[in-house]
Amino acid sequence: MTRSNEVRVELPVLDEASLPAPLGPTGRTLRSFPVPKPLKSHGPARIIALCNQKGGVGKTTTSINLGASLAEYGRRVLAVDFDPQGALSAGLGAQTHDVTTIYDLLLTRTKDVSEAIQHTSTPGLDIIPANIDLSAAEVHLVNEVAREQILASVLRKVSDDYDVILIDCQPSLGILTVNALTASHGVLIPLECEYFALRGVALLIETIDKVRERLNPAIQLDGILATMYDSRTLHSREVLERVVDAFGTNVLETVISRTVKFPDASVSATPITQFAPEHAAAEAYRQLARELITRGAVA
Ligand SMILES: Nc1ncnc2c1ncn2[C@@H]1O[C@H](COP(=O)(O)OP(=O)(O)OP(=O)(O)O)[C@@H](O)[C@H]1O
Ligand SMILES: [Mg+2]
Repeated sequence: MTRSNEVRVELPVLDEASLPAPLGPTGRTLRSFPVPKPLKSHGPARIIALCNQKGGVGKTTTSINLGASLAEYGRRVLAVDFDPQGALSAGLGAQTHDVTTIYDLLLTRTKDVSEAIQHTSTPGLDIIPANIDLSAAEVHLVNEVAREQILASVLRKVSDDYDVILIDCQPSLGILTVNALTASHGVLIPLECEYFALRGVALLIETIDKVRERLNPAIQLDGILATMYDSRTLHSREVLERVVDAFGTNVLETVISRTVKFPDASVSATPITQFAPEHAAAEAYRQLARELITRGAVA
């Protein structure tokens, strides 16, 4: 039995293609970057320094997981630990004692670079490790001829074997970081989404400008990567808004959220792409890899 006064409402059929695309955390249309095509040949590498003199912003975490994601896409990746704390080496499970480290390569120019390269548990991702010895490099390099170009000349010797070399810098703007910037084609600046994040970025950009003027005219800013973002807090959203206001399209569309999976993955000395391959954080780093390939920062 049907009721005679029943009102039937015709609902329009939703056509997803006609809906406005959702906005991502950076306020821009959320795009999904295409899965890159495999490379037919490898090298020479594009060298990217991960740099921010502020500590604990995600430089090492990004070096590890961006490196692993690019390797998953078939890129040959060399990660260079350029911090005496050796966090990158620990995070990728590399040996740091009784082995050749980046310090040995800086000091003994005749040393064979391939001697220092170790494979990691991720196929296609290699590392040159560092340990606390590297903290003496600042002192040793002061009197060297062309002291800013030493890392560049070390990396030149293995550049043809890789598609990308990622340099994990220490949190300072000393001579090691200037070496990293001099050796690099691009800089990636991880920025933690918290107040004071922008403090110091002006000084970092000034340093990059000086390196461009005096040592490495071709260096580019590849992007600013917002890390440790928490969409539930107004605080995080406001900081990201200010970062986008200040740096516009230099801010990468990919944003890395805050999750305890990263410290967990560090303890297991594996990239998050292996430790929790299905986790949103692993997918975020894969997206970063796809975005950088789409932007042309990586082959
Ligand atoms: N997205 C994230 N969410 C939660 N924790 C994170 C995230 N990224 C990094 N961490 C954690 O924050 C700490 C600092 O990160 P990381 O070591 O990558 O920073 P860094 O910039 O390399 O630090 P430093 O300047 O000391 O070298 C680590 O314990 C790491 O596991
Ligand atoms: Mg670090």
